[in-house]
Amino acid sequence: MAVAVAVTRERREGETRCAVTPETVKKLIALGATVTVEAGTGLGSSIPDADYAAADATVAKDTKAALAGADVLLKVRGPTAQEISALKPGAVVVAMLDAYREKDTVEALKTAGVTAFGMEFVPRITRAQVMDVLSSQANLAGYRAVIEAANAYGRGFPMMMTAAGTVAPAKVFVMGVGVAGLQAIATARRLGAVVTATDVRPATKEQVESLGAKFIAVEDEEFANAQTAGGYAKPMSAEYMAKQAALTGEHIRKQDIVITTALIPGRAAPVLVTADHVASMKPGSVIVDLAIENGGNVQGARLNETTVTANGVAIVAPANLPGRIAADASALYARNLTAFLDLMIKDGALVLDLEDEILKAAVVTHGGAVAHEGVRG
Ligand code: NAI
Repeated sequence: MAVAVAVTRERREGETRCAVTPETVKKLIALGATVTVEAGTGLGSSIPDADYAAADATVAKDTKAALAGADVLLKVRGPTAQEISALKPGAVVVAMLDAYREKDTVEALKTAGVTAFGMEFVPRITRAQVMDVLSSQANLAGYRAVIEAANAYGRGFPMMMTAAGTVAPAKVFVMGVGVAGLQAIATARRLGAVVTATDVRPATKEQVESLGAKFIAVEDEEFANAQTAGGYAKPMSAEYMAKQAALTGEHIRKQDIVITTALIPGRAAPVLVTADHVASMKPGSVIVDLAIENGGNVQGARLNETTVTANGVAIVAPANLPGRIAADASALYARNLTAFLDLMIKDGALVLDLEDEILKAAVVTHGGAVAHEGVRG
């Protein structure tokens, strides 16, 4: 007996990642699965079909053929209505469902009697670190944001001493120092920039300094209590935001690059860079807004566009940054998924223990109902 795992091509516009790699095909088979991959699934991540076949996956010619008899469907983003309708009741779907926003997908999964898991809900506990897609993808997004900034910047990042004179190092300011922000700091430092950073969680101060960057923040009583028990930021008061804007505004004016990554779970991203801040910057400066898909941290940022302001500042706001480093993003994501499936494949059979705290937290639909309290609303 074996669990039939299927992986189909991503259908969302601009989604270059995929949910399985030849490496994870082998791991899934070792766990007790058979793996069927739709032709073309890996192309955006530079994985030809032949590599899947060489890892002992079956390559199916289309979505329908890939899903025939599937027990489990693995995806990067939520499946399409067509894919859902091709699944048998009781089949399992594992994806980054974005379940708070993708209501139609959740409804279709529920109606189809599918057990769907949203990888975004995997709790950030030690045992689940290897399944933490938010971290694996945010890490790469933080790296890639610096590359986007360097690409849009008409000067160099490192200090360079040449016979024709010295090139000054770029000044980079990272706002929001979670997983993405820390990687952005490390990457900008590796490129030779002079880096500063800010956050509202006091724990980040030491992390910033350990990466060789300087920490800047309004460190008052509210700051001292800004971290929730879950490790996330609280929404800050209007008074704090005003003090923060005054402090960072003075700093932003002198920066070459600003990278923003600030998020608050379940809310729109806080505005950290105002139109006035942007107007105070030098021509040629670059801002990269990683929070754009959650409303953005920067006034004037537009999703998937580079906006050049009247004073010559480029505001870059790409969607799906991990998708711009797709081969690595897919490799990490596919490993996250494989670790997650390890929780439910036992001796070649699918065994769902929905009392397991990881599965319990991540299950969105089960048995014809919406199982996730937050999504049910
Ligand atoms: P996130 O993506 O929710 O937010 C990014 C950053 O924005 C956070 O550092 C947050 O404090 C900051 N922020 C929010 N409002 C701000 C404001 N007004 N000004 C400046 N910064 C602001 O955070 P992420 O990357 O998901 O990390 C959240 C926490 O989870 C961190 O404490 C991280 O260390 C922790 N974590 C724990 C893991 C585990 O235990 N397995 C794994 C990964 C992360």
